Amino acid sequence: MIDKDFREGDAKTNVFGSDAMMQPAPVDKIPEGPTTPQIAYQMVKDETFAQTQPRLNLATFVTTYMDEYATKLMNEAININYIDETEYPRVAVMNGKCINIIANLWNTPETAPWKTGALAIGSSEACMLGGIAAWIRWRERRKAQGKPYDKPNFVISTGYQVVWEKFAQLWQIEMRTVPLTLEKTTLDPQDALSMCDENTICIVPIQGVTWTGLNDDVEALDKALDEYNAKTGYDIPIHVDAATGGFILPFLFPETKWDFRLKWVLSISTSGHKFGLVYPGLGWVVWKDKKYLPDVMSFSVNYLGAEISQVGLNFSRPAAQILGQYYQFIRLGFEGYKNIQANSLGIAKYLHQTVAAMPEFQPYSTEVPNPIFTWLMKPEVQKTAKWTLFDLQDKLAQKGWMVPAYTLPANIENIVVMRVLCKQGFSRDMADQLLNDIRFAIKELNALEYPTTTRIAMEKNVPLSAKTFNHTGK
Ligand SMILES: Cc1ncc(COP(=O)(O)O)c(C=O)c1O
Repeated sequence: MIDKDFREGDAKTNVFGSDAMMQPAPVDKIPEGPTTPQIAYQMVKDETFAQTQPRLNLATFVTTYMDEYATKLMNEAININYIDETEYPRVAVMNGKCINIIANLWNTPETAPWKTGALAIGSSEACMLGGIAAWIRWRERRKAQGKPYDKPNFVISTGYQVVWEKFAQLWQIEMRTVPLTLEKTTLDPQDALSMCDENTICIVPIQGVTWTGLNDDVEALDKALDEYNAKTGYDIPIHVDAATGGFILPFLFPETKWDFRLKWVLSISTSGHKFGLVYPGLGWVVWKDKKYLPDVMSFSVNYLGAEISQVGLNFSRPAAQILGQYYQFIRLGFEGYKNIQANSLGIAKYLHQTVAAMPEFQPYSTEVPNPIFTWLMKPEVQKTAKWTLFDLQDKLAQKGWMVPAYTLPANIENIVVMRVLCKQGFSRDMADQLLNDIRFAIKELNALEYPTTTRIAMEKNVPLSAKTFNHTGK
């Protein structure tokens, strides 16, 4: 039947029969006129269509699976701006409840009904807030002592995540890095202390080093720092970057002391959107007590008729993640989180064992404290193989898996590793599928007659830098 009202481009147009589908998508200029929602939807959707499935993205630390109810709740809150506290007062209260729950998971000694912490867009903002607080506390102390306060520094291992480089650059605070080596795979407390002086605002151990998945020994650092502070009269504190470990340690290793049970740990940051099991972007930072959060970091604003006090680098931000986090706390409880994290860790250990038994590979570390597993080629295999882990990465990508190969940080940058992150949504069966695809890819790569371009580059000592092949994917 002919529809007399049909107009080209209206909602009745078959999307793929429309004129718009013959046009390139806008790159520089806003289109002159509107199009139908169906066409606009299809164009935007298709722009990302060729990407992998998020659950096959084993490169990311960030949550790629939440259940239906969590997704529904978050979608329903998509139009809520967190900062509109007057309009959405319950969201602000829910935020406070999340901070309380996290502070208690980290054994806060604070007794006030509302613990001291802040919401962030991710660990990056949370790390910045922890670092800034340490800097301001140091500055105030120096001012009070009549000492100069223009040359602050902080100490961290070379396994730091890029946020700490941003922190150093943006606030002009010197970053002193303790080298990681094959022998010292995590932050060595004595090496860290040897870099400290009266201008050190804090030391930053990491729980779940981005590159390797290992944990710095915060308890040993705290002990060594206690002696050091007593000897020098300094008051250098610890900020723990627990982007990953903050939601692993309390559930799987509650006996390990890395948190507020330790004397010098005054602040901790984590990503709610990693093992907090919430879609991005969500981060949290908690201070041991209100007195460690400088007053100047709480900005009081008269906003839409109410006086609100806010700690954060952003102002407007989505509230949906707060609902997602609170839902997960209620839905899963301690036991539920423990089961999910134990499964993720169990699958990581299974992969670790199985990959380590393959003749081509060796694990980077015998320990798997977080659901992250890194491996490398055996040096003797690397000598003769016609391929590299970058080629394996490409082969696996052809099957939809995102498994990054990358070079390690300074001092060990000639080592290429591959990393898998096991998260909620990655089952033992999927791990077996991945292992089969790895075996199949290796068979093909071992049968190559000529070396691959990355192998030739390696031979010629072309630095295998982030720019050349690195897709760490974070
Ligand atoms: C140790 C560490 N710190 C900070 C970050 C930054 O986290 P986000 O992506 O949540 O900003 C990451 C991210 O991987 C990390 O691993």
